[in-house]
Amino acid sequence: MKKAFGIDVGGTGIKGAIVDVEHGELLTERRKFLTPKPATPDAVIKEAKNLLKSFDWKKGVVGIGFPAVVINGICKSAVNIDKKWINFPVKEAFEQACGNPVSVINDADAAGIAEMKFGAGMGVKGSVLMLTLGTGIGSSLFIDGKLIPNIEFGQLVYKKSVAEHYGSNKHREQLKLSWKDWGASLNGVIKYYEKVCHPELIILGGGVSKKFDSFSAFLKLDAPVIPAKLLNGAGTIGAAYFAVAKSKK
Ligand code: BGC
Repeated sequence: MKKAFGIDVGGTGIKGAIVDVEHGELLTERRKFLTPKPATPDAVIKEAKNLLKSFDWKKGVVGIGFPAVVINGICKSAVNIDKKWINFPVKEAFEQACGNPVSVINDADAAGIAEMKFGAGMGVKGSVLMLTLGTGIGSSLFIDGKLIPNIEFGQLVYKKSVAEHYGSNKHREQLKLSWKDWGASLNGVIKYYEKVCHPELIILGGGVSKKFDSFSAFLKLDAPVIPAKLLNGAGTIGAAYFAVAKSKK
């Protein structure tokens, strides 16, 4: 069995577990360390190191899902994270701190990979759009199962700001919106996405996808919409899977 350590860096927690990357399953509980405030590179790396230590994960491969654009291990955006991350060599810094081989990927891309390999999108051909609804809107786009990395649909200019301010779960919580009102707002956002890329299937992930039945009736879209299957584990599983796939290249 092939194993890797998956880490999902988020606004509130840095979560990690050992993953069976052949079956897309968590082999351990997912442990959560609080994201330090301010979440500067040094502080976050220190916590991630503590997380790895708590599992005694010594030399094995580590995959990190990171909430920003990541190109060749370097962070290229910082919308919901500390601005110090921009142009920060995430991969190199984690490798130096932990001593393990590390791969870094956008968090929504990681979640999408997991859903396409082991979850709601398994075996689906054509174009599939996966959205993670959390603090922001993460997006990942697949063509015949192949990822187009770093698609940032959350940042598309929409109404008076950007799309994620109208469809994220944070937006629902902050404005205390009913499922109906948030569902309608999210529907507007995804309709806009449909105009841009016309996916054949839409998968909705993030913690709120557990409540899919509460808002799905308010989504009136061209493509079928289904909830993610791996729920909160998707980011961790996808990051670990990505790291192993990368280490083979
Ligand atoms: C960022 C994305 C990220 C998403 C989910 C957005 O604000 O721009 O890169 O995937 O949040 O964390």
